[in-house]
Amino acid sequence: MDTMETIMTRRSIRKFKDTPLSEEKIWKYLEAANMAPTASNRQPWNFIVIQREKLENLQELLEASFKERLEDMGEEDYQNYKERLEKMPIPGEADQIKNMQSFFRTLGNAPVAILVYVDEPDSEQRGFLDVQDAAAAIENLILAAWADGVGSCWMCGPLVKKGDALKKIFNITDKRLIALIPLGYPETFPVKTPPKDDVKDKTRGLP
Ligand SMILES: Cc1cc2nc3c(=O)[nH]c(=O)nc-3n(C[C@H](O)[C@H](O)[C@H](O)COP(=O)(O)O)c2cc1C
Repeated sequence: MDTMETIMTRRSIRKFKDTPLSEEKIWKYLEAANMAPTASNRQPWNFIVIQREKLENLQELLEASFKERLEDMGEEDYQNYKERLEKMPIPGEADQIKNMQSFFRTLGNAPVAILVYVDEPDSEQRGFLDVQDAAAAIENLILAAWADGVGSCWMCGPLVKKGDALKKIFNITDKRLIALIPLGYPETFPVKTPPKDDVKDKTRGLP
């Protein structure tokens, strides 16, 4: 795949095959992440590779992270969220809320997930830059994986309610979590593209 094809065909994957992902492949994607552009070359990102066995132990926590977020939503937010989910290709039955809850619990049966974190920033500017650096690293990682036929889903949802619990589990209570990314060979491939806005409506300066 050339770069543009990789970018244009990548989709978030929420159901994976049992097939394990080799250490070699995981290192390859982490190397890609590590080559991301980064402010002042600080490279603030860190990664924890979580294998399926450990993910099984996190199921209750991950599902609770979803349920607690729902419980906290007011009626309007809940309806908006539900509408957004309706347009997303989440594997499962008709009820997209249930499908998403199940995805949070199982991470689509991904053989592995990567937890990304940075140091707690010592200034607002540092925080502003670190999040962008980490996001660039994540995008490199998921595109490198996709070019190999390996799917992923960039997830922040689980960190909203259960970030502190995850930090405790992985002994990184003094760090800032950025994302959790299940990775594996897609079970459903390719999936439908979710609706994308027209970039022309969001751009000024070109005819
Ligand atoms: C910062 C960020 C956080 C996200 N968090 C979640 C998440 O918690 N759960 C989830 O299923 N998808 C999550 N996603 C994936 C988006 O839902 C997905 O990218 C979007 O629906 C567009 O679909 P596509 O990736 O297939 O183009 C996240 C993506 C980003 C960039």
